[in-house]
Amino acid sequence: MSSKDVPEPSESELAEMDRDQLVELGTSLDGVKLVDYPDPWPVKGTRAEKRAERMVALWFVIAGLAGLAFVVLLCWPDVWRYKEPGASGTFWYNLYTPALGVTLGLAILGLGIGVLLYTKRFIPSELAVQERHDGDGEGSSELDKKTIVAQLADSGDRSTIARRSLIKRSAALGGGALGLGVVALPIASFVKSPWKEPNPADTLWHTPWMPEHPGDVVYLRRYTGVSEQVELIRPDDMDAGGMETVFPFHESDREDPEKLAAIFNRSDAPVMLLRLRPEDAARVTKRQGQEDFNFGEYYAYSKVCTHVGCPASLYEQRTNRILCPCHQSQFDALTYGKPIFGPATRALPQLPITVSPDGFLVARSDFIEPVGPAFWERKS
Ligand code: FES
Repeated sequence: MSSKDVPEPSESELAEMDRDQLVELGTSLDGVKLVDYPDPWPVKGTRAEKRAERMVALWFVIAGLAGLAFVVLLCWPDVWRYKEPGASGTFWYNLYTPALGVTLGLAILGLGIGVLLYTKRFIPSELAVQERHDGDGEGSSELDKKTIVAQLADSGDRSTIARRSLIKRSAALGGGALGLGVVALPIASFVKSPWKEPNPADTLWHTPWMPEHPGDVVYLRRYTGVSEQVELIRPDDMDAGGMETVFPFHESDREDPEKLAAIFNRSDAPVMLLRLRPEDAARVTKRQGQEDFNFGEYYAYSKVCTHVGCPASLYEQRTNRILCPCHQSQFDALTYGKPIFGPATRALPQLPITVSPDGFLVARSDFIEPVGPAFWERKS
């Protein structure tokens, strides 16, 4: 039967039709004939129906519990902080990321299986035949709108969701916990005051290269990967054209294993120490006001990329370029770390260095500008 063969009811006839009649009218107006529209559970309240309902609820509950576990893990204090191999808490730290993945995966899987099972077991699957027809470019008529609303309401009714409170409650638990874990908490974690303790108010302007008290000497410490091993650097230790990653070392930290380890986790601490070849050192252009920041052929630049803060940790000796692998910014080590390629627009901050009376390379002061990418209050 074509939709053209269906006589359009008058407004008064339409107003008197019940929902079943509207559904039938709506399908026939679309050229659709319902061949079979079986109720999935013709006999209500059977054990099989209850079992199916409990099965759907079970998966929603699994999703809910896994979602809650994910939320708890996200909020668990301190377990996510980096622990050195062998330090206490390493076992739980190593499990943290896999546990986040497993709980989130299980929550999504549980929700998905619950919805699938519900659709399969409780939504009637009708057999319908529809004639192919092209739209005539007109918008939906009042009649079409009314009948489609009736069809949708009818589908909702036949799915029996209204009277299945167990499924509704368990689905709310699963969906709610997942929503909280995936959307609310990750967004909430960005809402944080950078000025709040334990960071001092001027934390963005200083790095661990700042002397901690008058007379404090800040040495350049070679990165060895072992926190207890303190290796300082003498000017003769590096060959021309060489590069080392160095961290600050305060003599007062020598007997404090926690401080010795913590410095490797400070994102604003790593510095790239370069010893230029003599012929390259002769071509250096120094930045105004920073003419004495180097010590002979030694130059030290922050390794925090000024684009968005990745480690700019590649050094090409032949061209004297420092490269950031994240978005390919390149900085010229012979021109005060000035960006010469890529999205970075600021030079890498240069650490002023010299040699101490005991013959080791030391910082003359903290960086004179903030390291890393821009933020609202910075002037440079
Ligand atoms: S963070 Fe270095 S180029 Fe983007």
